[in-house]
Amino acid sequence: MEERLCNEGQYYVNINKVRDPDSIYVLVDKFNQLDEEYVPYDLEMIHEEFNPMRLLLRREARIAFEEMCCVAKQQGILLEAVSAFRSYSYQSTVYMKNWTEGIPLEEYRRQRDQVSARPGHSEHQTGLAVDINDLEETFADTPAGRWLACNAHYFGFILRYPKGKEAITGYSYEPWHFRYVGRYLAEKIYRSGMTYDEYYYAVLNC
Ligand code: DAL
Ligand code: ZN
Repeated sequence: MEERLCNEGQYYVNINKVRDPDSIYVLVDKFNQLDEEYVPYDLEMIHEEFNPMRLLLRREARIAFEEMCCVAKQQGILLEAVSAFRSYSYQSTVYMKNWTEGIPLEEYRRQRDQVSARPGHSEHQTGLAVDINDLEETFADTPAGRWLACNAHYFGFILRYPKGKEAITGYSYEPWHFRYVGRYLAEKIYRSGMTYDEYYYAVLNC
């Protein structure tokens, strides 16, 4: 555990294959990789009102997401999914989308690794992660971004890549990326101030 959280910027080393991909507590990060073939068994389309792009989440996360969107709407906050389940092959495309032949691959990876997961390492492949509204850091200072930061845990979602925790998560701050872990755990993680990586190793003892 310790070496995972004090990795001095070393990622994608000593990679484990995820053994419990269907658990809602699954940890997928730069050290824990899903199989290329893995697709969750219970993907469902999010209700169209909150889903202009016809995206999928796992059933439990889909229900919680829609409930969160409904409550937010009652409070004047509009939420929409802009990315949810992504297959391994789609993640490959996302990861490589800015690469052109002139750019050395190592250099490209160094930059890209800050903001995008390599295939098999994206939480989006679990069907439990959703990007909401706007993929810009300024989203944090919008009414929707602030509302989510304060309320998402009541619906079972946690902010997965917080500001100031980049060295632990391995990613830049993503105020739009929320991960479903269920209400019980989301509230505990929220109150702990830990990232999911920290909580997983320190408290869940996985
Ligand atoms: N942007 C997040 C880290 C992903 O690619 O899964
Ligand atoms: Zn995301």
